[in-house]
Amino acid sequence: MNFAGSHILSVDQFERGDIERIFEVADRMEPYAHRRLVTKVLDGAILGSMFFEPSTRTRVSFGCAFNLLGGEVRETTGFEMSAIAKGESLYDTARVLSGYSDVIAMRHPAEGSVAEFAAASRVPVINGGDGANEHPSQALLDLYTINRELQGRGGSLDGLRIAMVGDLRFGRTVHSLCRLLGLFNKVQIHLVSPSELRMPEEIVEVLRQAGHLVEETDVLEASIANVDIVYSTRIQEERFASQEEADIYRGRFRLNQQIYTANCEPNTVIMHPLPRDSRESAQELADDLNDNPNLAIFRQTDNGVLVRMALFALILDVVDQVDLHAREVNWYTERRF
Ligand code: NCD
Repeated sequence: MNFAGSHILSVDQFERGDIERIFEVADRMEPYAHRRLVTKVLDGAILGSMFFEPSTRTRVSFGCAFNLLGGEVRETTGFEMSAIAKGESLYDTARVLSGYSDVIAMRHPAEGSVAEFAAASRVPVINGGDGANEHPSQALLDLYTINRELQGRGGSLDGLRIAMVGDLRFGRTVHSLCRLLGLFNKVQIHLVSPSELRMPEEIVEVLRQAGHLVEETDVLEASIANVDIVYSTRIQEERFASQEEADIYRGRFRLNQQIYTANCEPNTVIMHPLPRDSRESAQELADDLNDNPNLAIFRQTDNGVLVRMALFALILDVVDQVDLHAREVNWYTERRF
């Protein structure tokens, strides 16, 4: 695809070569993300950050990524602080906000809303999550992390074996990640969920049609035995009709060190889009995994900054200028990372 000036709304926009391009640019962002170098390539540019659903890492990492390229961030969070609470349409909000910004990152609880907003926007829009539908930048950072973790172990995305565990019905990160994995060859995907919270049939079908092996189950232990990656997810309780209904599934699949040791291959990588639900009744990834070197959850969040920097640099078409605007910093300390 031609990134310059494009919206990023769905992973279906990408071909394999586009993913490789994003990864290559993300690698080049490392000295800036790690503060060894500073670049002002986006000096004067403004990111409009509009998050109408709870968010910590996605919102802040989009903002940091833009700042690290030298741009400024203007932020609005929650409907109650926005004119949408006064009845303004997405169309009007998009026309207004896109006049103030050079690119917009947006999260909204309704499926399709970010695409609707983008259609009215005068600048590129990145989907930071639209309801249970998609979360393309998360899927890119997940895939980037998988690739890096596997490279260190001699594996690759072709032939990947992955188990996705938890709320696969409402979890937009797993929807986008599954769609992306379909671009690679002979992937094995074990989908572990309560039967009521299965991956949407349409996504499973597309993967099977493309020749990938997809297994659906509600048994955790057998499914994590022969995989490279275990990707755990939270029950998306905010998407259920009632809290009581969500509570039925809370704590159904728990991975802790003992279950990991008893079932997984020694170097199986553990991932989660975060936030993990650390309440006693949930604990889909127990705290006793924190010292397990294969727990990649905080490498995922670090990688999120690289991938989001890459998206901004590609969309605003400044990839080849990033290094021209670079200088060293004098306060850098190796201990940071
Ligand atoms: C995810 C999301 O918002 O979809 N979080 C994130 O962006 N890293 C996953 C979740 O909320 O469970």
